[in-house]
Amino acid sequence: MGLVGRVALGVAGFSFGGRDREVDLATVRAGIAAGVGILDTARAYAQVDVPLYGEELAAEAARGTGVIVGTKGGHSRIGETTWDADISAGRIRADVEGSLRVFGGEQLDLYYLHRVDLAEQPVEEGTSVLAELRDEGKLARIGLSNVDVPGLERAARVARIDAVQNLHSAMGRESAEVLVWCEANDVPFFAYSPLRHSAGAAHLAAMAAERGVSLQRLQLRALLASSPVLSVVSGATRPETVLDSLAAETEPWDEALQAAYTADLS
Ligand SMILES: NC(=O)c1ccc[n+]([C@@H]2O[C@H](COP(=O)([O-])OP(=O)(O)OC[C@H]3O[C@@H](n4cnc5c(N)ncnc54)[C@H](OP(=O)(O)O)[C@@H]3O)[C@@H](O)[C@H]2O)c1
Repeated sequence: MGLVGRVALGVAGFSFGGRDREVDLATVRAGIAAGVGILDTARAYAQVDVPLYGEELAAEAARGTGVIVGTKGGHSRIGETTWDADISAGRIRADVEGSLRVFGGEQLDLYYLHRVDLAEQPVEEGTSVLAELRDEGKLARIGLSNVDVPGLERAARVARIDAVQNLHSAMGRESAEVLVWCEANDVPFFAYSPLRHSAGAAHLAAMAAERGVSLQRLQLRALLASSPVLSVVSGATRPETVLDSLAAETEPWDEALQAAYTADLS
């Protein structure tokens, strides 16, 4: 997939708390105006009383801009703190049809199985239906999220996988093995929750202070430097943090920063 920038803007954070839709829309639009080229949403990024909040927000912000939107199915919010998970063929097809109605076009740019749990359901069924939907022209690209290497290998025997999205933070590097698989198979990897456990980064924080940039920007930059197939999915929800994170893409990176980051990891 030709990636449109390496800092995607995720809208999961807009699902919580009392939100002002116009403010959220303006925030996402500010990101797009500054150069965000890919938005990340999901059926699950719902407010309890507004079930399609996250998809509708991304759809409205992206409309007419050329920005790519990744969305996901097989996982829905069913209560204040509860979500279901089901990647059966019937459920995925129904979710894709629902997302097509939200986005209002003939085709979705990128569609993921949101949660792959091999102990619960075979990944082959959900992957096959995504591949059929791609063949039908309803999906331009298909992806898997929350998947491990065995799950990816099984899915890749069924269909070409266009993208993977997993938890992978600058401090935790949680999906290192999956990232290696993506590099070996030339599959774009989207690192979600890239700033989890940020507080532990003392060396990089010192460099950030010295250079007058945020620790968060440098952590995102460190992840981008770690692999050519990696993009980050930033969860910023305010215009200033959206723009600060986006600037990770152009932030210079050098040996001193790499050394500080490496010291934080060890
Ligand atoms: N596939 C999945 O299962 C899955 C799961 C989780 C998340 N995701 C995706 O990944 C996205 C990001 O996840 P996340 O929200 O956990 O990510 P995150 O980016 O690691 O964390 C978001 C937090 O970091 C802060 N932040 C972001 N940029 C900052 C900056 N430059 N300076 C200071 N603070 C900054 C935000 O603050 P403010 O809110 O104040 O801006 C927010 O509190 C989600 O929106 C979603 O699209 C996917």
